[in-house]
Amino acid sequence: MVERALSLKNISKTFGKGHTKVEALKKMDFSVAKGELVAVIGPSGSGKSTFLTIAAGLQKPSTGQVSIGSKSIDAYNSKELAKLRFQKIGFVLQSSNLVPFLTVADQFTLIEKVDKSKKKPAAREDILQALGIEELKQQYPRDLSGGEKQRVAIACALYHDPDIILADEPTASLDSERAFEVVKLLGREARNKNKGIVMVTHDERLLAYCDRTVKIRDGKLADFIPDSAEV
Ligand SMILES: Nc1ncnc2c1ncn2[C@@H]1O[C@H](COP(=O)(O)OP(=O)(O)O)[C@@H](O)[C@H]1O
Ligand SMILES: [Mg+2]
Repeated sequence: MVERALSLKNISKTFGKGHTKVEALKKMDFSVAKGELVAVIGPSGSGKSTFLTIAAGLQKPSTGQVSIGSKSIDAYNSKELAKLRFQKIGFVLQSSNLVPFLTVADQFTLIEKVDKSKKKPAAREDILQALGIEELKQQYPRDLSGGEKQRVAIACALYHDPDIILADEPTASLDSERAFEVVKLLGREARNKNKGIVMVTHDERLLAYCDRTVKIRDGKLADFIPDSAEV
């Protein structure tokens, strides 16, 4: 039986009212299994970021239910949800979510301070190497290029080692070779550590490294078969 890491059921999201009303998501169902890397594609404005932030419990849907494992997040109060989110979900933002006044090394130390069970120096070195950022340890985010920041943010998410990783265009500012490396790494992470990983992307060349692709169009989800006439 397939074990679900995260699922969304009957999710709608409406912004605004009257003539400014936007139906960003329309009764969408989605799930990611443990051990699976799923790509989400779709044109700009189709609802990808809305979908991902709702999946992460960062904003509430207008209707529908988000479940982590088999349990609906409605069962938790806001404090419990914040804790659950911290423990179970890693979120990689489009513009990297690094702490501006900490060096790269200290971004990792912060994770260890917040959660002592995360203190694994060997794992830290492996991740830094896999992402090619071991030379950047003493740098501050302001000294890094967009692509370097994005790789550090991915490294922090992996080091945190959550069951679920949600990444919004994590390869957008990387060159092709790095982008391929990052997607392969996410795929290995999903399979080897039984994580559920969802990656929003614009880049269809990356889909070959994902287990499955879904497409959002006009707030609805459909399976996407790469190499079909429909793009
Ligand atoms: N906080 C918000 N308030 C109003 N409209 C929003 C908000 N967030 C997103 N939208 C609208 O919802 C639609 C989907 O946006 P988004 O999820 O950011 O798309 P994508 O990530 O695919 O580019 C867009 O029409 C966008 O303008
Ligand atoms: Mg977006």
